[in-house]
Amino acid sequence: MPVTEVINPQPAPQPAAPRTARPRRLLMCRPNHYDVYYSINPWMHPEKPVDTGLAVLQWERLRELYMSLGHTVEVIDSLPGLPDMVFAANGATVVDGKVLAARFRHMERTAEGPGYLAWFQRNGYQDVLWPEFINEGEGDYLPVGRRILAGTGFRTDQRSHYEAQEFFGLPVTSLTLVNPRHYHLDTALSVLSDTEIMYWPEAFTPGSQAVLRELYPNAVLATADDAAVFGLNAFSDGYNVLLPQAASGLSEQLKARGFNPIGVDLSELLLAGGSVKCCTLELRDRDS
Ligand code: ARG
Repeated sequence: MPVTEVINPQPAPQPAAPRTARPRRLLMCRPNHYDVYYSINPWMHPEKPVDTGLAVLQWERLRELYMSLGHTVEVIDSLPGLPDMVFAANGATVVDGKVLAARFRHMERTAEGPGYLAWFQRNGYQDVLWPEFINEGEGDYLPVGRRILAGTGFRTDQRSHYEAQEFFGLPVTSLTLVNPRHYHLDTALSVLSDTEIMYWPEAFTPGSQAVLRELYPNAVLATADDAAVFGLNAFSDGYNVLLPQAASGLSEQLKARGFNPIGVDLSELLLAGGSVKCCTLELRDRDS
């Protein structure tokens, strides 16, 4: 047996202090008009039937779970004719109370941008930017502490990354996605705390993989199996990590690092290529 077949694997890095959850304010959209009748990513097969009632039930469970963990959930009304509006993560990016509105790549979703923007205007957000370049909100923008990781390759225009950096005044790091099943950053990478992430390296170009290794040498790395069941489409409050329940390998890794993984079943929403994180937009208000 070669010596490199490790008998004594490296222990998972432990946090200095026990992990604590920070209560968040979230925006979600009940999937009353959810359906799959067009295809803009490889998960979507319009010929497969969708059970909208079951989608609503699974979504309600997710919402109740957030509330039981102490988070506040705001709900935006879904609009008829916009079956993907349930994926609130795409609706905007909110940091320090500033709202970068979303501008969608596909015409099937373009009306969602102004739809979400109107919610922010009604709810007292004053620092709002209607962008020049295409960006799909938190689908491709993931704040990690005071840095923003930004995806491109399928949806968000790379020029939007600079627009976001100037608007938020925070460093934005561009990462390029290469696998069409992982078309948004939040399908390939998830933020666990202000300094920690988990991701699936193969979803990124070699250069972007090197950047992630440089910035986060101790990141949790997902296996291809966990990535394939959308395990990285997760939401973390710093302690509880809500993720698709099929991602059992990731759950084990998270436990070993002191997190509390909670498996969630959103099978009906996976038919459109979405899960936990896609359904969740974090409202990072100025003092949160
Ligand atoms: N059907 C939607 C689309 O392709 C799914 C969006 C999922 N959202 C996300 N944040 N990854 O645009």
